[in-house]
Amino acid sequence: MKDFAGKICFITGGASGAGFGQAQIFSEAGMKVVIADVRQDHLDEAMAYFKEKGAPAHAIKLDVTDREGFAAAADEVEKVFGSTPDLLVLTAGVNVFGPAEASTYDDYDWVVGVCFGGVVNGLVTFVPRMIKAGKGGHIAATVSWGAFGAGPTTAPYSAAKAAVLNLLESYFVALKPYGIGVSALCPANIRSKIYEAAIKGRPEKYKNTGYHVTEDTQKFLASIHEKGMDPRVLADWLKKGIENEQFLIVPYPSGPRMVELALSRFVDYASPEGMKRLEEKQKQPPTEEELKHMAEREGYSVNEMRKPGAAPIMPDFKDVGFGKAKKDVDWVDPNKKVN
Ligand SMILES: NC(=O)c1ccc[n+]([C@@H]2O[C@H](COP(=O)([O-])OP(=O)(O)OC[C@H]3O[C@@H](n4cnc5c(N)ncnc54)[C@H](O)[C@@H]3O)[C@@H](O)[C@H]2O)c1
Repeated sequence: MKDFAGKICFITGGASGAGFGQAQIFSEAGMKVVIADVRQDHLDEAMAYFKEKGAPAHAIKLDVTDREGFAAAADEVEKVFGSTPDLLVLTAGVNVFGPAEASTYDDYDWVVGVCFGGVVNGLVTFVPRMIKAGKGGHIAATVSWGAFGAGPTTAPYSAAKAAVLNLLESYFVALKPYGIGVSALCPANIRSKIYEAAIKGRPEKYKNTGYHVTEDTQKFLASIHEKGMDPRVLADWLKKGIENEQFLIVPYPSGPRMVELALSRFVDYASPEGMKRLEEKQKQPPTEEELKHMAEREGYSVNEMRKPGAAPIMPDFKDVGFGKAKKDVDWVDPNKKVN
């Protein structure tokens, strides 16, 4: 998709962070923008922005886990702007962090429900409508660099994002004959309000977490996101990727090489010699190239990445207990670890 002017764009999570950046950039490209978001306060702020600009925009309060709500939102777009979207951007997402072994069903149901289920619902709602409209178009999702790695404290989030990446690849192949492109946007650190989700955005029915989550852990997370990529810059990467019909958009100069290095671990996992190589590698400090890549992804300088405690790769989690288990999860105990 190369021409955006006059077309319709529907963005989930479009009222804050990455999604709001996308709404601004596609609006500036001449699109009519629909922002769908579960938080009314975010929607009000975003709509005030578009009102001041005099740009065509429409807000819909939508929880992406609500399938009937999604269908109603799709009907509403057709009513308001006269047609189904040309560009669908599935960006709504949440996160919460803690040891994999402390995770509860609620941790999975909430994070996977929004991050993966929300994308499934968007695809099932809009793909038939887009094909029937016969206009071609493009579908993108804001995935995450987390799709390429599985950290010990990111299990539900990394799993959901890896699943989204795989899912999008299926649709990339399936929708090509209809003239509908598909892209997976995989950023690392973004300047956003995602740190609010675990406290303000977590529904009561999923409240049983195994993780230690407090105002202080979320303030710590906020301090990491302050360093993140400007959402408008990220949206420019997405727009360029869509123009180039690129499936995978890793929004850094070293993006392709980062992917190559991240995926090479699977080659090692697949043999006894490879497992030994990985074990040896884990004992070594990061290489200069890895430091440069981490700096690009996290928004720090290479020198900052070198300083222990100064960067997200080596944070001092002790003070606030970020990424730890809730106190009553008594099997998460360093004394029980044999390695
Ligand atoms: N912040 C980062 O560093 C980072 C990195 C990689 C990927 N991402 C991904 O980017 C996407 C956007 O997140 P962000 O960082 O801009 O956060 P954000 O919190 O600033 O924006 C996300 C928006 O999604 C909305 N949302 C949350 N749950 C929803 C639901 N159930 N239904 C509808 N809307 C919902 C929120 O209200 C919010 O307005 C997410 O998918 C996230 O996983 C974020």
